[in-house]
Amino acid sequence: MTLNRRAVLTATLVAGLFNPMWAGAAQPLVMGFSQVGAESEWRTANTASIKDAAKKDGITLKFADAQQKQENQVKALRSFIAQKVDVIAFSPVVESGWDTVLREARAAKIPVILTDRAVSVSDPSLYVTFIGSDFVEEGRKAGRWLLDFAKKAPNAELNIVELQGTVGSAPAIDRKKGFEEIIASNPKLKLSRSQSGDFTRAKGKEVMEAFLKAKDKKIDVLYAHNDDMAIGAIQAIEEAGLKPGKDIIIISIDGVKGAFEAMVAGKLNVTVECNPLLGPQLMQLARDVVAGKPVARRITTTEGVFPAEVAAKELPNRRY
Ligand code: AHR
Repeated sequence: MTLNRRAVLTATLVAGLFNPMWAGAAQPLVMGFSQVGAESEWRTANTASIKDAAKKDGITLKFADAQQKQENQVKALRSFIAQKVDVIAFSPVVESGWDTVLREARAAKIPVILTDRAVSVSDPSLYVTFIGSDFVEEGRKAGRWLLDFAKKAPNAELNIVELQGTVGSAPAIDRKKGFEEIIASNPKLKLSRSQSGDFTRAKGKEVMEAFLKAKDKKIDVLYAHNDDMAIGAIQAIEEAGLKPGKDIIIISIDGVKGAFEAMVAGKLNVTVECNPLLGPQLMQLARDVVAGKPVARRITTTEGVFPAEVAAKELPNRRY
């Protein structure tokens, strides 16, 4: 309950002015939401979904953009605690380092919901529930697509380079793990380089330029942990005089419109979907949590795989 709600209720009770009609006109639920940043097309769609859903649902949203810095998120969470919001939701930049601030939220009796990215904490009861994608499975889907592709030339060795997401973030850790788990079954698939491009186009381009300049081994495949880094890398590949999607096979994750456009243009080979439209489910979850209803510990979103062959047909249906 917010300070306002408590204050209004106490004042009316003390003054003996309580009107039962007011009981139905409760104050709106207040959610403090700490967002990772605005690093990608995916993130922009995720922010819009959360803001729209809060508005439609009549939830007062206190929104803070952490600009990809954990220290900003910790500050935002402390500020939400000080403001006595009804519920805190956040998408953690990185997995570790949350125990202290989550204990502070618990001491203030404010429930916490994780969205999109998971945390690694000593006491998992420090958050109520987690809604988001299965990032390990996304990595596996990317790996399986490559296994199938490699069947076309079973004797050829494929040299793979990887653009990882933000160091220490759940999607970077899990997408690497899932992909490596699958490609391990084919010894012809060799991962030679792996570096973080921080989930941004600019960094994806910069790191891909460095990979290409190394010139020690021909690059056959690029695995990018998100579409934005793949799109940045496509620019680097073109500037190096090569054909993305042909000279270098490109696999990425998210399924944003930019990726579908790149596939239609023949520059990207496949994208694994990661759904950012979490807003409506998050608002319902927040209402249930605040009302003390039982909720699932883990809510996983359903997602597909989109190879270039289906891109033109799918592009008009994409919502982000
Ligand atoms: O946590 C989800 C990831 O974060 C998305 O794949 C990426 O685009 C974003 O920056």
